[in-house]
Amino acid sequence: MHVRSLPLFLLFSFVLLKLILLPALADNSSNAKNNLYTIGEASPGGIGKFYMGREISKVMGHLGAGWLERPERIQQERTDLLIENLSLRPTDKVVDLGAGSGYFTFRIAPIVSQGKIYAVDISPQMLAIIRAKMKKNAAENIEPVLSTVTDLKLEENLADCVLIVDAYHEFSHPLEMGQSIYRTLKPGGKLVLIEYRLEDPGIPIKKLHKMSQKQAIKEISATGLEWVQTSEVLPQQHFMVFRKP
Ligand SMILES: C[S@@+](CC[C@H](N)C(=O)[O-])C[C@H]1O[C@@H](n2cnc3c(N)ncnc32)[C@H](O)[C@@H]1O
Repeated sequence: MHVRSLPLFLLFSFVLLKLILLPALADNSSNAKNNLYTIGEASPGGIGKFYMGREISKVMGHLGAGWLERPERIQQERTDLLIENLSLRPTDKVVDLGAGSGYFTFRIAPIVSQGKIYAVDISPQMLAIIRAKMKKNAAENIEPVLSTVTDLKLEENLADCVLIVDAYHEFSHPLEMGQSIYRTLKPGGKLVLIEYRLEDPGIPIKKLHKMSQKQAIKEISATGLEWVQTSEVLPQQHFMVFRKP
């Protein structure tokens, strides 16, 4: 190439890269993301949106709070064992994501007495229930947080542990939520995902409210979190642990 035509060549390359190639690549990556979601006919209890082949369930409204707080839950789900197996330290910062009425938030708060628990939910009504309970219980290390369907609204590298109990299957944007969880966890921090075992037809819970271990690992791994182990210490649910590298 002639030296005098070099500036013209550089200008042409810049225009090609900036205006044509980069936008095309960006478009492809957003297409790749969109392809993970598909739309189909909604089944009873489902929203007709599918993520990696799994239909997303409708959200439980605040009218379900009484069911979450039922006294027999401790025996049916061994919620005591669930909390014990989190192996939390007193100084830990924990996120109870999809906290609902705060069943787990209030039981975990005394364990992380020098740390904090963030009760995160998209439902202002559920958070109102938590705030009312906070007044009665004088719990000082609980912070209710109103999130969006794509963002936990918490700072980066904050949490030692994110706990999700019976809520992930309702997330309308599981990929974006997974990415937000990743950002919120400290390096080395863990996500504990609790879902009813789909593999066991004997568990009396609707299909869309259950998840197989294989599906959960596939979905969570797409966020960059690494699967560590699944333990079957609970009578009805998988106890799945993922870690941020
Ligand atoms: C079945 S309740 C479980 C509540 C609680 N984890 C428990 O086990 O007692 C599911 C909760 O997840 C919340 N939820 C659904 N989608 C959410 C999202 N994208 N982000 C945060 N919370 C969500 C709902 O508002 C509801 O309070």
